[in-house]
Amino acid sequence: METMIKAENITKSYTMGKTKLDVLRGVNLTIEKGRFVAVVGASGSGKSTLLHILGALDRPNSGSVFYQKQNLAGLRWGKLNHFRNKEVGFVFQFYHLLDELTVLENVMAPAMASAGLLGWMSLKSRTRERAHQLLERFGLKERLRHKPYELSGGERQRVAIARALINQPPLLLADEPTGNLDSRTGHGILEALKGLHDEGQTIIMVTHDERIASQASRVIRLIDGKVQE
Ligand SMILES: Nc1ncnc2c1ncn2[C@@H]1O[C@H](COP(=O)(O)OP(=O)(O)O)[C@@H](O)[C@H]1O
Ligand SMILES: [Mg+2]
Repeated sequence: METMIKAENITKSYTMGKTKLDVLRGVNLTIEKGRFVAVVGASGSGKSTLLHILGALDRPNSGSVFYQKQNLAGLRWGKLNHFRNKEVGFVFQFYHLLDELTVLENVMAPAMASAGLLGWMSLKSRTRERAHQLLERFGLKERLRHKPYELSGGERQRVAIARALINQPPLLLADEPTGNLDSRTGHGILEALKGLHDEGQTIIMVTHDERIASQASRVIRLIDGKVQE
């Protein structure tokens, strides 16, 4: 199978005053296209740190991340922005939706951000159509003009997933997407992710919940800053 993303010997430490915290101590990881991978580990084990590094939201202290054979460390500013905006989609535990925007506008925002003013004029109607389709798929057709604060947690997370997918990123990264939800609602989110995976979406999902993780096609454990399978 073709490799989607590969981490080689990733290390990451945080220094707080005089203490140095070694969070990742040489993480090696190869994730193939089309996989639904769960990364599990205790709270504080470095799951979010790893996901941020894979999505180029953060840099490792040493080691390399290769996205489809491209070393992220070698990407210049513009290419790196392209990677963050077009190649990966991010879903967070606390949704990170913009309360000033409607549901529809939230979902469209990443497409607008990447288009530039002129590009956006030609993209807008297509983007709106795709946002409609995504929101309909996730059961939010009746919520397009609502503001995020008017929605339930499960609905907000489904909006966040739609937003993450608007630019059709090959890789979806989800950081505890069910972590703020009751188990039934969380299950619905998991079903949505599984449905995407069935259609070929590559997904890396971080969770501290073994039951949630067991639904993925592959489970990776982060223990003492290293990967165990
Ligand atoms: N920016 C930061 N500065 C200092 N310490 C951090 C920072 N980010 C995370 N940490 C610490 O690194 C460890 C791993 O954090 P994190 O990756 O968020 O773990 P997880 O997502 O598995 O709960 C934790 O002990 C956390 O407190
Ligand atoms: Mg975390």
